[in-house]
Amino acid sequence: MKLIVVKDYQALSREAAHRGAEELRAHPNASVVAATGDTPMGMYAHLAELRDRGELDASGLRLFQLDSYLGLSADDPRSLYGWMKRSLLDPLGIPDERVVRLTGDAPDPDSVCEAYDAAVAAAGGIDLAILGLGRNGHLGFNEPPVQVDAPTRVVALATESIESNASYWGGQDRVPRRALTAGMSVLLKSRAILVLVSGTRKQEILRRTIEGPITPDVPASYLQHRSNVTIIADRDAAGSLSAQ
Ligand code: PGA
Repeated sequence: MKLIVVKDYQALSREAAHRGAEELRAHPNASVVAATGDTPMGMYAHLAELRDRGELDASGLRLFQLDSYLGLSADDPRSLYGWMKRSLLDPLGIPDERVVRLTGDAPDPDSVCEAYDAAVAAAGGIDLAILGLGRNGHLGFNEPPVQVDAPTRVVALATESIESNASYWGGQDRVPRRALTAGMSVLLKSRAILVLVSGTRKQEILRRTIEGPITPDVPASYLQHRSNVTIIADRDAAGSLSAQ
């Protein structure tokens, strides 16, 4: 695992976009998992600028939704699909039909999860995963404790996730309690994994991710000792950690 430390959030967004774009230019038909959340928004804005300048063609990509809230339709303002569409799909010109969704309001969410894992397998696995890091160490909504081979599934959100997602939706009672998440098995098998981490509130969990024991209690600790993982952190998140 490689840790890159940059000055601030702007530098993180530029660096992530630069690396992401290189990866996507090398693999224009890549299968990509892309997170919502606050952290990757700057990266996506930079990718959109590259596309607007004709320096990135995203039309051949296949997007796999990382997670979604259970029970919400795609037109609910809290829909994570809607967020991905506004921040990434539309700005990069990726049509809905190139997206494998985790449909939150399907009558049988378990079969949505099974179909998702089958679609990942049919695509030959994920080429690039762009992830944030939860304050409790989650990746997607793989809440602790989680096993390394957990499949895509329905999960209950951890209290920390409900608290931090409250800031997106204006209060904890507006955050659904259950979600669908791409499994650890899908994420960890991705050919390249880019994790973006910003701000002092992530400092302690980033340290445990990188230096702590590999444990189901810190899902992101499974990223240790994997050569395909790059973590980009700003100085506030890195604290005393140095680039490695
Ligand atoms: P954030 O969310 O990017 O908004 O901090 C990350 C996460 O909880 O996975």
